[in-house]
Amino acid sequence: MSIQLLAFCASTRKESFNRKLFSIVVAGARQTGTEVTIVDLNDYPMPIYNGDDETATGMPESAVKLLEILSAHQGLLVVTPEYNGFFPPLLKNTLDWMSRPDPSGQSSLRHFQGRIAAIASASPSGFGGVRSLLATRQYLTILGLTVIPDQVTVSQAHKAFAENGELADARLQAAATALGATLAAVTARLAS
Ligand SMILES: Cc1cc2nc3c(=O)[nH]c(=O)nc-3n(C[C@H](O)[C@H](O)[C@H](O)COP(=O)(O)O)c2cc1C
Repeated sequence: MSIQLLAFCASTRKESFNRKLFSIVVAGARQTGTEVTIVDLNDYPMPIYNGDDETATGMPESAVKLLEILSAHQGLLVVTPEYNGFFPPLLKNTLDWMSRPDPSGQSSLRHFQGRIAAIASASPSGFGGVRSLLATRQYLTILGLTVIPDQVTVSQAHKAFAENGELADARLQAAATALGATLAAVTARLAS
C-alpha cells in the first residue's frame, strides 16, 4: 500500500533550529519515495482553547482543516522544541482543539487512532529536547497514535547545523535522515 506522511514543526520561529532538523527528517522520508505533506502551523492559527468559545462557535476552521488533512495520511512527523522541560503550547493547543468532537459531533480521535508517528527535537541546551520528547510521546500516545521507538535529539542546536543545513555531526545527520525513512517504512508496514 502506498502511504502518505503528514509533517509539522511545533516552532513557527523563522530561524527555528527545529525547522532545520525537521527538513532533514522530511528529506529522509522522501528519499524512500514516500510522499510527505508539510503543514506550516503559521497557516493554521487557533485561539487558546476555551470551552465557552467551543460551545459558542465550535472547532476553529484551522482545526477542522488540519483534521481533514490528517485523515488522508497514515503517518505523522512532529518535530518540537522544548519549553521548560515540556513541549510548547503551540503543539498542545493545536492538538487539543483537533481532539475535540468534529462539526459532525463524532469523536475526532478516530483520525489519530491507528496512525504512526515519529518525534524529534532540537535545543540549544545540552538536553537536546529529550524531556520534551518524553512528554510528546506520552501525549501523542494518549491521542491514539503509535509513536515509533526511534527518535532524534539535537543538543547545542545553535552550533549543530552546517551552512548547507545539514547537521555537522555526520552520525547525527544519518540518524535524523534514518528517522524519516524508518517512519515511512513502519507506516507502510502497519498501514497495509
Ligand atoms: C519559554 C521557554 C522555555 C524554554 N525551556 C527550555 C528547556 O527546558 N530546555 C531547553 O533545552 N531549551 C529551552 N528553551 C530554549 C529553546 O530550546 C530555544 O528557544 C529554541 O531555540 C526553541 O526552538 P526553535 O529554535 O525551534 O524555535 C526554552 C525557550 C523558551 C521560550
